[in-house]
Amino acid sequence: MQTETTTTPVLVKDPHTFAHPEEAVIKHLDLDLSVNFEKKILTGTARIQFERKGDASQIILDTRDLTIQKVLMNDAEKPLAFELGDTVPFLGRALVVNLTPETKFITIYYTTSPDAGALQWLSPEQTAGKKSPFLFTQSQAILARTWAPVQDSPGIRFTYSATIHVPKGLMAVMSAENPQQKSSDGIYHFKMPQPIPAYLLALAVGDFTFKPLDKRTGVYAEPVTLEKAAWEFVDLPKMVDAAEKLYGPYAWGQYDLIVLPPSFPFGGMENPRVTFATPTILAGDRSLTTLVAHELAHSWSGNLVTNATWNDFWMNEGFTVYFENRIMEALYGKDFSDMQSLLGFEDLKETIAELGDTSADTHVKLNLVNRDPDDGMNDVAYEKGHFLLLLMEQTFGREKFDVFLRNHFKNHAFQTITTEQFIEEYNHDLVAGDTAAAKKIDIERWIYGPGIPDNCPVIHSVRFEAVEKQVEAWKNGTAAAALNTKNYSTNEWLRFLRYLPSSLTEKQMKDLDDAFHFSKTGNSEILFCWLELVIANKYTINYPALKEFLFQVGRRKFVKPLYADLAKTPEGKILAKEIYAKARPNYHSITQATIDELLN
Ligand code: BES
Ligand code: ZN
Repeated sequence: MQTETTTTPVLVKDPHTFAHPEEAVIKHLDLDLSVNFEKKILTGTARIQFERKGDASQIILDTRDLTIQKVLMNDAEKPLAFELGDTVPFLGRALVVNLTPETKFITIYYTTSPDAGALQWLSPEQTAGKKSPFLFTQSQAILARTWAPVQDSPGIRFTYSATIHVPKGLMAVMSAENPQQKSSDGIYHFKMPQPIPAYLLALAVGDFTFKPLDKRTGVYAEPVTLEKAAWEFVDLPKMVDAAEKLYGPYAWGQYDLIVLPPSFPFGGMENPRVTFATPTILAGDRSLTTLVAHELAHSWSGNLVTNATWNDFWMNEGFTVYFENRIMEALYGKDFSDMQSLLGFEDLKETIAELGDTSADTHVKLNLVNRDPDDGMNDVAYEKGHFLLLLMEQTFGREKFDVFLRNHFKNHAFQTITTEQFIEEYNHDLVAGDTAAAKKIDIERWIYGPGIPDNCPVIHSVRFEAVEKQVEAWKNGTAAAALNTKNYSTNEWLRFLRYLPSSLTEKQMKDLDDAFHFSKTGNSEILFCWLELVIANKYTINYPALKEFLFQVGRRKFVKPLYADLAKTPEGKILAKEIYAKARPNYHSITQATIDELLN
């Protein structure tokens, strides 16, 4: 097993940037961009203030699919020579700007490409209101460079400001201090005074409005969705309070959500001050708001203390899943968070089975060198990371562990952390000489080893056990309508569906759907689980519902498994390709890339 624990690299090399921050590093970005919906481009300037080490004669930025018109020095004094490097797959091209001794800052004049990876340009038909176009960005992991020339590495932080020009009548928000009202001239000014890494740069433009939830939280959504969203997220202020009570003050001032159109490729994205969210969590019963707790938790784990490279992704996501569960436990009790954890554990087992339990992609610490980080990021960082932290909590006790985490967030605020730095901190501050405990946990085995270690915590859920009993009864002949499913929560329904045998007859499928109306539910998580059964059992009666879902929703977590399930049989693959040919234009480039590869 690897033992890298004794060396703490002062500056770790990020394999996914062209930048040489040790020579010249970005400190402040000032954007001035016009949003052109007709041409699907952003055009304008990026003014970059930087810090120069020694007599560095150039600054290197990341770009991908950007057209650079010119680079000017200081107050437009004179043009600077620049060069674009060769295109490297998924990394794009280095932009090398030559600096003179007098260069204090540079202004880059540029235009994005209509195919920019981070940007999705939606026609009015693709929105809830159907009247106005919509634009949103998704910069994580390495797509910020497709809409701004920056040093696109999680280890490099900068403050930013922006002026964004949009068509009159539309609103704009960024991962920054945001307007709460539309401007009359379509011009918006933004300021992000805290330093952030490039993957947290974000912009959304559309016909949305704002509704406050309390003095520091609120929701942006299209007018037809706003009330529903505000109702769904009513507990948001309590979540922020609970999070602060756990691990220290919220560092970013305001915390808002924006509900995006259904093509958003993720469930949520933790853009500072305004989380971007899929509308598929608007279940109408507040049952899918765990996702909000997750994105909120990133305000500490990720946005405040950031993974140094994408290989350390679990420092963002594993910590966030743990934190998210603690928030949900504080609000809704341990029964609830245990069900949540167990569902996550089932996901992990499935992912590891798919990857193979000796695969290096099942290590908590990833190796994404020469790969698109997007390919290597899976449930392992989230769930195996989460269970490692749970094991620490159980071994050292919650009280001690909470103190440790609180200090962790405080000591590394606005900095990055490598896995190896964390191991050192863990040994020093948590283990603190308790070698028996350290041996029991064997952190190296968890982080640099494959599969699920034997000492993984086991969670019991009385409520899930009751669900499993009902499924057994059904398998033994009790009609679905006669089962005791009274007051089932979403999590119990999810357990119910996942606990069903994978092979079911048409009669059985009909019995279930007649009793519980899975195919008509407005709950996207439940519908998704049902549709997996629909595909596995070729329950063609529900194919219209399947197609409708794949046309409407672009959230990759749902879309990818459904196409993959279809593609398991030759007829299914033909159907998958047929559906995808029509659905593809509705998906974000991130989802498109995944499905293109899958169905090829
Ligand atoms: N930061 C992630 C989304 C992400 C990860 C985007 C990697 C690009 C690359 C976000 O916080 C997240 O994890 N979202 C999850 C929801 C969560 C409840 C597990 C999602 O989108 O499904
Ligand atoms: Zn996350």
